[in-house]
Amino acid sequence: MSDNNKIIIFDTTLRDGEQAPGASLNIREKLEIARQLVRLNVDVIEAGFPIASPGDFEAVKTVAQEIRGPIISGLSRSRKQDIERAAEALKYAERGRIHVFLATSKIHMQYKLKKAEDEIIRLAVEAVKYAKSFIEDIEFSPEDASRTELPFLAQVVSAVIDAGASTVNIPDTVGYAIPESYAATIKYLYENVPNIDKAVISVHCHNDLGLATANSLAAVKAGARQVECTINGIGERAGNCSLEEVVMSLRTRKDFFGGLYTDINTKQIIKTSKLVSHLTGFVVQPNKAIVGDNAFAHEAGIHQDGVLKERTTYEIMHPADIGLEESTLVLGKHSGRHAFKDRLEQLGFHLTDAEIEEAFERFKVLADKKKEIFDEDLEIIVEEAFSKTVPQTYSLDYLGVVTGNKSISTATIRLKKDEKVMQDAACGDGPVDAVYQTIERITGIKAELLDYSLRSVSKGKDAIGEVVVKLCVDDKIINGKGVSTDIIEASARAYLNGINKIVRTDGKAGNEPKGI
Ligand code: KIV
Ligand code: ZN
Repeated sequence: MSDNNKIIIFDTTLRDGEQAPGASLNIREKLEIARQLVRLNVDVIEAGFPIASPGDFEAVKTVAQEIRGPIISGLSRSRKQDIERAAEALKYAERGRIHVFLATSKIHMQYKLKKAEDEIIRLAVEAVKYAKSFIEDIEFSPEDASRTELPFLAQVVSAVIDAGASTVNIPDTVGYAIPESYAATIKYLYENVPNIDKAVISVHCHNDLGLATANSLAAVKAGARQVECTINGIGERAGNCSLEEVVMSLRTRKDFFGGLYTDINTKQIIKTSKLVSHLTGFVVQPNKAIVGDNAFAHEAGIHQDGVLKERTTYEIMHPADIGLEESTLVLGKHSGRHAFKDRLEQLGFHLTDAEIEEAFERFKVLADKKKEIFDEDLEIIVEEAFSKTVPQTYSLDYLGVVTGNKSISTATIRLKKDEKVMQDAACGDGPVDAVYQTIERITGIKAELLDYSLRSVSKGKDAIGEVVVKLCVDDKIINGKGVSTDIIEASARAYLNGINKIVRTDGKAGNEPKGI
């Protein structure tokens, strides 16, 4: 707390961000995002909620073991078993933090917890003390703080600081706050909590009213010194406060924020945004502030003319500040293994020799189809290799589609399961529907297609197409993604990726190969 102008960036993409429906990430993917967060230079990585599931526990443990630099935080309810599980997962962290929470608003205390105010304070204090017996760095969150009566909130904050919490977070859990009211809450706490100087006050805003960034910035202006946020603003419901928006607002409007700063390496923003988008399957809306495809695109003639004469007429940030440079042509058909490996290292990927070999094989196949290979293509190739860590229960072996404006679309597909082949054919309302009907017949898994999106990964008519599908199987929502220079194949791969996740996470049994 020596530098009162520094805003601590607490990234919760891997915890609150991953709670968004369909965003499930495997451990390998979480680790890759955590490594990128290190390059982005965040101060704290909230890696998960260890008691929530064995997968979450393993993810927090792996991130704690592998990542050096940022503090690694694990979430915990105010319960002994949760705290013990979090402490166990964080055992190997260079610097670990247990983030304990307990709801304090009347509505949560009455209906969810069925507990009175004095009991809430007792439980919060006990939890902080217990967590402190494992790890020095403890954060406490009075859940639904923005709807908590201010005098009670001040009492809770004071009690948990006395109990040893070194960070107290004031969550706007349901995205209810308005900038002025939220700033007034922070100001009230500074004026009414006698020991407040012993802790960092943090903010955590949800975007239900589209105000998460505005609320976080208002709170910072009122004295908060940690902002909890996620890449691309992903998270529960309408999402969390977006990291890139807060960071670039503080940087671009230094004049207004009076010297407040973050240690974020802003040149890593676009890369981080893309990685999170690819791995979660959440496409970034084109007009999203900072990282949307159109964020720096000037369409109107007057704007274009102005920017050409003097960039600052219509641009308040430089695209290069977030790492947005003209994509570079990197490799081609004749590039060798060495150049390929070098470029992957420059892009910051950590691959084992076997993975480099696998990615190189994919590169060669792609280079045969596509003349010019860009960085974006390489990133996709590598991510494809990572997504192989989703056990490929069903893998695509053959795909044939007949389609046309006067013919009935028909797909013939051969899938492999445990090296045994299963094949079938079906008609559909267009080639993608025919492919999905066929996969359903083969696997026996009925999935409702909630959403389908297709985008081109890099430039040119021969660019790789990336398809993201949102599927619902037995009330569970899951995203799947697939890439190929052939969009029908990318569609099939995306659907199969989703089906494989369902089989893996729910143990859902699909059809078995017959005969052979
Ligand atoms: O939104 C919220 O209240 C949370 C807490 C657990 C910090 O995510
Ligand atoms: Zn939250």
